[in-house]
Amino acid sequence: MNELCTVILAGGQGTRMRSKLPKVAHQVAGLPMIAYVLEACRTLRAKRTLVVVGYQAERVREALAGEAIEFVLQQEQRGTGHALLQTRQALSGFDGDLLILSGDTPLLTSETLEGLLEAHRRARVKATILTAEVLDPTSYGRVVRDERGELLRIVEEPEATPQEREIREINAGVYCFAAVPLFEALQAIRPSAVKGELYLPDVVALLRERGGRVQAYRTADPDEARGINSRAELAEVHRLLWRKTAAWLLAEGITLLDPESAYVGPLVSVGPDSILYPNVTLEGRTAIGEGTTIHSGCRIRDAKIGDGTVILDGCLIQESEIGDGCQVGPYAHLRPQAKLRSKVKVGNFVEVKKSVIGEGSKVPHLTYIGDTSMGEKVNVGAGTITCNYDGFAKHRTVIEDEVFIGSNTNLVAPVSIGRGAIIAAGSTITEDVPADALAFGRAQQINKPGRAAALRAKRQQKR
Ligand code: UD1
Ligand code: CA
Repeated sequence: MNELCTVILAGGQGTRMRSKLPKVAHQVAGLPMIAYVLEACRTLRAKRTLVVVGYQAERVREALAGEAIEFVLQQEQRGTGHALLQTRQALSGFDGDLLILSGDTPLLTSETLEGLLEAHRRARVKATILTAEVLDPTSYGRVVRDERGELLRIVEEPEATPQEREIREINAGVYCFAAVPLFEALQAIRPSAVKGELYLPDVVALLRERGGRVQAYRTADPDEARGINSRAELAEVHRLLWRKTAAWLLAEGITLLDPESAYVGPLVSVGPDSILYPNVTLEGRTAIGEGTTIHSGCRIRDAKIGDGTVILDGCLIQESEIGDGCQVGPYAHLRPQAKLRSKVKVGNFVEVKKSVIGEGSKVPHLTYIGDTSMGEKVNVGAGTITCNYDGFAKHRTVIEDEVFIGSNTNLVAPVSIGRGAIIAAGSTITEDVPADALAFGRAQQINKPGRAAALRAKRQQKR
């Protein structure tokens, strides 16, 4: 079997988006759209994956940070053919198959790519292009076939005749090529007379003229071919995505009270018997366990939530971990690296950041926990603040098991509270508290017997 390398074209600006951000870095359900293309390629196990970057290359690099890919720079954006030509050097000596994709087709699936690759290998052709029959082919390249149905060429919309524009089979912008003849043909294509760009699809006709066999592989689901070129298309793709994931969740045994307002990204997983109330957004690579309930108005991105947990209304949860049997919210904010072990309660108007909260601990109301390690069965009173920032640096707070913290306490970090200690309400704790100690960090109360009554009497006299 021929070796496989993948190239994703992502150098264009995406003018039709009217954005400063490169098109492929725009978010789809919490991830840059190009991340989905990369994800779809993963199962193919290509030897190498190259991404062509150009317009604001840095932003695209950032969007794909941590991925095992190679970036190739296209200095000037002179069309998709020109973009691919930039990889020639990096791929010199490679004589296997090249899978080429665009960074703007986030609905593409691994199954379709596997089908395309298999068809390509089976037919032993020079090129296999992915096509789709769509209702509205506007702005796509049209697939021109001869009377026997053989693929002849792709014609781009600006060059197409009125009859060709009627064709509803479009080029999805995904191709398999035998690498060597591809690069030879690429060098021979001429810029478009209308746009002055080098069109990658032009190599199809050229390979054919040179005696190579080419073929089209049609997707079963035309939506997969959707390229995003404008904000309207971005909105449309989101709508399709929500519908698709909602249908899939219902089939997997998840209750959606209103499937039309379940905004669940395609890389999210939800366990059976979980319940999503209306207007819930699950983004990125979020994973929700079994029998977990998420109430209305929550947005959860890149978080892991266990089984039998309840997230009450209006929570924002990002890059956090929540264990089994927890209760969070309403209106809680879990910022990156919040880790709640099992049976933890985090209540209303509580913010947690970069902290671990041990099993069975409770932080029920109006509290900020930042840069903290909290043990098990701790009880934190309302209005407690870990003062983690002194204006120069962040400091840590340690709270050991079974500590009880009275309401309205300030824990001025760095500070640690020993196991089983009790902090009196209203304390400002600036020094470590030993285990089992009772700490007061507030002004002594003074009671003046009878003084209130005396005051009142004095006032009455004045009248
Ligand atoms: C392209 C195809 C069209 C197909 C459609 C499918 C061409 C000429 N046309 O059109 O036949 O129906 O995709 O979605 O290829 N890019 C670069 N450098 C450039 C130009 C583009 O890297 O100089 C990248 C873009 O970032 C994008 C991809 O190539 O990810 C496709 O470019 P785009 O401008 O979206 O092509 P379409 O006009 O949609
Ligand atoms: Ca496109």
